[in-house]
Amino acid sequence: MTVSTQGAPAQGLLPRGRPLLELRGIQKTFGPVRALGGVDLVVAAGQVTALCGDNGAGKSVTIKIISGIHPSDGGQIFWRGEPVDIHSPKDSAALGIATVYQDLALCDNLDIVQNMFLGREPTKFGGLDEAPMEVAARKTLADLHVTTVRSIRQPVSSLSGGQRQSVAVARAVLWNSQLMILDEPTAALGVAQTGMVLALVRRLAHQGYGVLIVSHNLNDVFEVADNVAVLRLGQMVAQAPAAQLDRQSVVELMTTGTVGGQPFVAALTPANGTVEAQP
Ligand SMILES: Nc1ncnc2c1ncn2[C@@H]1O[C@H](COP(=O)(O)OP(=O)(O)OP(=O)(O)O)[C@@H](O)[C@H]1O
Ligand SMILES: [Mg+2]
Repeated sequence: MTVSTQGAPAQGLLPRGRPLLELRGIQKTFGPVRALGGVDLVVAAGQVTALCGDNGAGKSVTIKIISGIHPSDGGQIFWRGEPVDIHSPKDSAALGIATVYQDLALCDNLDIVQNMFLGREPTKFGGLDEAPMEVAARKTLADLHVTTVRSIRQPVSSLSGGQRQSVAVARAVLWNSQLMILDEPTAALGVAQTGMVLALVRRLAHQGYGVLIVSHNLNDVFEVADNVAVLRLGQMVAQAPAAQLDRQSVVELMTTGTVGGQPFVAALTPANGTVEAQP
């Protein structure tokens, strides 16, 4: 028996550089607080897009709207070029969007296989069918080059922070996600673990997935991102290929919304503002 992945509809991955997710004019207000004032963002297939911004800029709210936790108050979301309505985390997951939050991604008391199949376990004669789950879990981890895990039957409480992120990402891959959103994936990690997670992020893009990564760490951003988007006070003040920005200008954009006192305008590139992913 093989394990059928019953997650998102099994649409093929889009060609690298093609817009996978697009936000146009997304607005969100909480009482007197205008969290997002018309945010535009494009996340392309096969590329890593970094979402940067100071505390309170609107990064988490943006991600929560994409993942269906908050409804937006205005604007439109497009998925693979088609307008979509995302009203719940279920809607977002059904499209093929997986969000990996820092801590709430996994169940500590369950092992790796159980976590990867949580809620979607294949059954045989009324009992759990363990063998195909183990095969699929092992293959998915191997395809992502996650090699540091000793046993797929170890509880995730025994994993390092980087390994936990890897299992959460593998779970998303197993269930046919096409866009992985990672919220500050390296914030709690040391140097070696950070390197492992960034390598995984690059590999996901290389394999054709779209990746949206929220990060405060500009070293990480410039190490992995093909595109950089900068939010400030609920406005998108720049989105451009990483090659058109540097750390200094991103810091300036985060704090003042300008570069050298001028609004940032991305230079046009052949692929309409996107560049080929790095190998
Ligand atoms: N549930 C909520 N109720 C009221 N205001 C909220 C809520 N969630 C976010 N906000 C407000 O929206 C704005 C954007 O918050 P958000 O959490 O998106 O910032 P952030 O960019 O993720 O910041 P950080 O880097 O600190 O995580 C802030 O002013 C915040 O106070
Ligand atoms: Mg946040």
